[in-house]
Amino acid sequence: MAKRTEVYKCEICGNIVEVYQGGGGTLVCCGQDMDLLEEKTADMTTEKHVPMIEKIVGGFKVTVGSTLHPMDEKHYIQWIELIVDGNEVLTAYLEPGQEPSAVFKTSATKVTAREYCNLHGLWKNEA
Ligand SMILES: [Fe+2]
Repeated sequence: MAKRTEVYKCEICGNIVEVYQGGGGTLVCCGQDMDLLEEKTADMTTEKHVPMIEKIVGGFKVTVGSTLHPMDEKHYIQWIELIVDGNEVLTAYLEPGQEPSAVFKTSATKVTAREYCNLHGLWKNEA
């Protein structure tokens, strides 16, 4: 059963969806079940995909990663998201050529950041 903020991908057409409200059914695309994307974590000093969360005045800046992730046409960060206190989701959609970072305005102090690399999947970090 799908749960809020889970991310699913269709391996045939590439559709990616995020769940707003879980129901009892199975998410299907192109005639088959969509795959639940695992939220990968790692040591951010050695893994370039881990989103780095920086507290700034009025919110947070999230950058992928300690060495900037490539933003080429064939390999780039498609979106960065901030989950605030588990009940609000802020999303920045990125394009090749942009810096792999985003600024989110919020007064929250506890956040989770996620990012999606078109080649290496979904990554998360918490602050
Ligand atoms: Fe990547």
